[in-house]
Amino acid sequence: MGSLAVMAGSPKALAELLSEAEHAIALTGAGMSTESGIPDFRSADGVWQKVDPMEVASLQTFITEPQRFWQFHRPRIDMLSGVDPNSAHVAIAELQRRGLLRSLITQNIDRLHSKAGSTDVIEVHGSLSRGECLQCKAMTTLGELVAKADGADDGVPRCDDCGFQLKSGVVMFGESLPPAEITAAYEAAERADVILVVGSSLQVAPVSELPAMVHQGGGRLAILTEGDTPYDEVADVRLRGKAGVQLSETVAALDAV
Ligand code: APR
Repeated sequence: MGSLAVMAGSPKALAELLSEAEHAIALTGAGMSTESGIPDFRSADGVWQKVDPMEVASLQTFITEPQRFWQFHRPRIDMLSGVDPNSAHVAIAELQRRGLLRSLITQNIDRLHSKAGSTDVIEVHGSLSRGECLQCKAMTTLGELVAKADGADDGVPRCDDCGFQLKSGVVMFGESLPPAEITAAYEAAERADVILVVGSSLQVAPVSELPAMVHQGGGRLAILTEGDTPYDEVADVRLRGKAGVQLSETVAALDAV
């Protein structure tokens, strides 16, 4: 592989791309959090290799079989609440702090970017920050939601006001994305001249369209995932390997740029 090709796959190349950008943004996925102990979805040991998301994480299941829905989600709340950010989150927060990332869009609901010090995180798939009633729009804290689930004989938390089953603030398959966040994500992509994708297989629309928007607008793509993505052939920088290592080396390379 020529030096240019090697360069195109190095933290140094990513550091140079980010340094030269006028308006770089980042889009992250579950691969950001595997080094914190949270399995991703589509890797060999991913969550969706073991259960069908349409059976356990769809709006239809939530409405028609709330007990099955909550049997899957209740243990995940504990698993997602008890973990810490890893070096990939820390590096992303540092890139934001240095002004090299103007927007941070995440598909993750684990809030680890915020815990690592990132600000203005655009959570396009919602987050585990609250509970909500889809019938009467009542809101609860996550603590209240968990207490209701644990106090219910069938494990299904119900709304105090209307009695309908409650869900967390995580977006389900078949549920519309939060309008403010998806609008912010599209606006960020329209302004971006570089998009850095970290830890996403880019299989789920509409978020998977954001790199295409940047590319069509003449912007450049940097992709850092262990697995393949549909954009691998058009990426200007393509890094594989662990996000924690690659991003930490990118931050270190910035000091040398
Ligand atoms: N470093 C780099 N890449 C990693 C790491 C890591 N430590 N761990 C996993 N990956 C890669 C995987 O190889 C895969 O390419 O991250 C990607 C994760 O892809 P998915 O599991 O499909 O996760 P994601 O793209 O975030 O899924 C999008 O699908 O199920 C829905 O709502 C859910 O937000 C999720 C959406």
